[in-house]
Amino acid sequence: MRIVDLRSDTVTLPTPAMRQAMFDAELGDDVMGEDPTVNRLETMAAARLAKEAAVYVPSGTMANLVCLLSHCARGEEAIMGQMAHTFLFEAGGSAAVGGIHPRTVPNQPDGTLELGDIEAAIRDPNNPHYPATRLICLENTHNRCSGAVLTPAYMAQVRALADRYDLKIHLDGARIFNASIALGVAAAEVARDADSVSFCLSKGLSAPVGSLVCGSAEFVRQARRQRKVLGGGMRQAGVLAAAGIVALETMVDRLANDHANAQRLAEGLARLPGIVLDPARIQTNIVIWELAPGAPPAAGFAAGMAAQGVKVGVVGPRRIRAVTHYGIETDDVDRALAAAKEVLR
Ligand SMILES: Cc1ncc(COP(=O)(O)O)c(C=O)c1O
Repeated sequence: MRIVDLRSDTVTLPTPAMRQAMFDAELGDDVMGEDPTVNRLETMAAARLAKEAAVYVPSGTMANLVCLLSHCARGEEAIMGQMAHTFLFEAGGSAAVGGIHPRTVPNQPDGTLELGDIEAAIRDPNNPHYPATRLICLENTHNRCSGAVLTPAYMAQVRALADRYDLKIHLDGARIFNASIALGVAAAEVARDADSVSFCLSKGLSAPVGSLVCGSAEFVRQARRQRKVLGGGMRQAGVLAAAGIVALETMVDRLANDHANAQRLAEGLARLPGIVLDPARIQTNIVIWELAPGAPPAAGFAAGMAAQGVKVGVVGPRRIRAVTHYGIETDDVDRALAAAKEVLR
């Protein structure tokens, strides 16, 4: 039985073109700045986001951590959503490694943080009782908010607020190209108002490994040092970066297919009894829904799906997540819908 794996877009495998590029990659010692393939990827990434520079790191988690460590000193505070990946799913790295104090404010269902909530969380710099606020973190698209897209107009409002208080903005753009495709604007536009941006090659773009940190030349110089601190300097990393170049060149536009498949999935699920889901909320490739009272709880629902060869993620006692990606076709979505219908029968 073919398995339809909707747990995450991180399960994607490299394309044949990526494997070939990895085989052919020209290599050097990247910690010495001498890997031509990594250098090319970093130049491409910076250009795509219209930032001065970029640095290649092994993972999205390290990309965010490097950014937080570069913006904040020990005891300083970073404001972030209570549903932010950096807050929920990065093992508390910024606190554990950097002594950075995370200050959470509520994420709205559309992934935004209310401007009033951000402003209320900013500390009075003259009061010695408080940690000093340094940073506002945003996430676009927003993983736990069902792949919600933050608009450039919203980002500009946060920028204006940050400027009033002399704060920096970090964008966790793990899926920034999903946002760009959904909005129909360049990724540079999505990144415009952020001082630093991280994005992943190993999610919807299907590369096996790697993320980029982008920002000013001075910021990236700091980030490169933090990468080294974390042990993320990878020597002949061009063997991996080569796949990343193919990802940026060939895998961005096709994200629209994933969004169409997610929409098809959401519309089909919403018609089933026991599923609480508004398909109009699904903007990109992540579909999160609630199981109504009377339907099986999430673990039972996921087990019932798995028994039919469809894997989904359990993200709460009655919450399920399914993510469309490279390798998932329309037929697979229909199989998932048929399996869900069977489980809820
Ligand atoms: C929004 C977001 N940021 C960061 C990450 C971390 O990426 P990685 O798994 O490469 O460490 C993820 C991973 O799913 C994510 O969804």
